[in-house]
Amino acid sequence: MRFYYAPMEGVTLYPLRNIHRQIMGDGVDKYFTPFLTATNSHHFKNREKKDVLPDKNVAFENYEDQIVPQLMAGNSADFLWAAKEIKKLGYKEVNLNLGCPAPTVVNRHKGSGLLLDIDYLDRMLAEIYEQVSEGDDYPEVSIKTRLGFSSEDEAIPLMKVLASYPVKELTIHARVREDYYSGTPRYDAYKRAVDTYREQGGSADICYNGNVDSKAAYEKIQDLPFDAVMIGRGLLTDPALVRVLKGGEGPRKEELREYLAKLYEGYATYIPEDRNVIFKMLEHWAYLHVHFKDCDRFLKTIRKSRSRDEYHAAVNNIFAGCEFV
Ligand SMILES: Cc1cc2nc3c(=O)[nH]c(=O)nc-3n(C[C@H](O)[C@H](O)[C@H](O)COP(=O)(O)O)c2cc1C
Repeated sequence: MRFYYAPMEGVTLYPLRNIHRQIMGDGVDKYFTPFLTATNSHHFKNREKKDVLPDKNVAFENYEDQIVPQLMAGNSADFLWAAKEIKKLGYKEVNLNLGCPAPTVVNRHKGSGLLLDIDYLDRMLAEIYEQVSEGDDYPEVSIKTRLGFSSEDEAIPLMKVLASYPVKELTIHARVREDYYSGTPRYDAYKRAVDTYREQGGSADICYNGNVDSKAAYEKIQDLPFDAVMIGRGLLTDPALVRVLKGGEGPRKEELREYLAKLYEGYATYIPEDRNVIFKMLEHWAYLHVHFKDCDRFLKTIRKSRSRDEYHAAVNNIFAGCEFV
């Protein structure tokens, strides 16, 4: 079984990718970057471009295969420009985002907004795959989608369209846009979607995505069809989750301490103010706190810390004062 680290905007940036890979990355086959916007001015934003520069991928022997940049685009011309740029950086695969639910994205007919007009999406994909199949200028193109925009029934026509293109790999987040990220994934609709995709001749490997955050959750999806599993929030909560799913042990206290310390240093290299680095770390603590029993009052001190020293003192208190679970 293959396991992938899901793209998460503002989170799965190069510091996290490198540090996770070094400390608890065994068994994670690919890391997807947060989306880069393929703008119509054909320039990447500086901070997005920086995130995919090969020399930032220090922990990866074969970043070309192990990291997949994701693109957000609303038309084939912008997508193809951006995909070509990604290929120039050496990457072998690029991923098209058909899932982002944010209103600002949807209103621009990007992300899950592309699921609102299947005929338009069909034309866009035809233009993309025609170019991509022609020469060596482009990486292979995989897709990450939801089951539909407002109804899971939309998955049927969507899968018929997707099955007609040489998609490198198809990741399906088992929700519709209007679910955002909450509620139980739509397991039955996911299965129907994959069945339809296969019946229509779709041959891409399929990657399941949605709420795989424990061994029990992983067991729940065992009856579904998939070739790979993509995990997002589960890996933020338990960075050793893939090891656990492969029969290994959970995160060790010292491992987590090292992970947190290195993440702080990683963010501090490009975020200027201590306070902003601490905000970034708080995004991780929002998931990681579950490993520390009754740690609320210590978390409060992390939230209140204003400097690197105050932050580290608060973290030391958590490690010293809370039972590790
Ligand atoms: C904070 C956050 C940011 C996300 N950013 C992206 C993104 O840039 N591209 C994308 O395709 N999905 C994005 N997602 C969706 C995740 O990749 C994934 O599909 C979703 O979290 C469900 O998987 P999970 O239950 O394993 O977390 C994001 C999710 C979260 C919570």
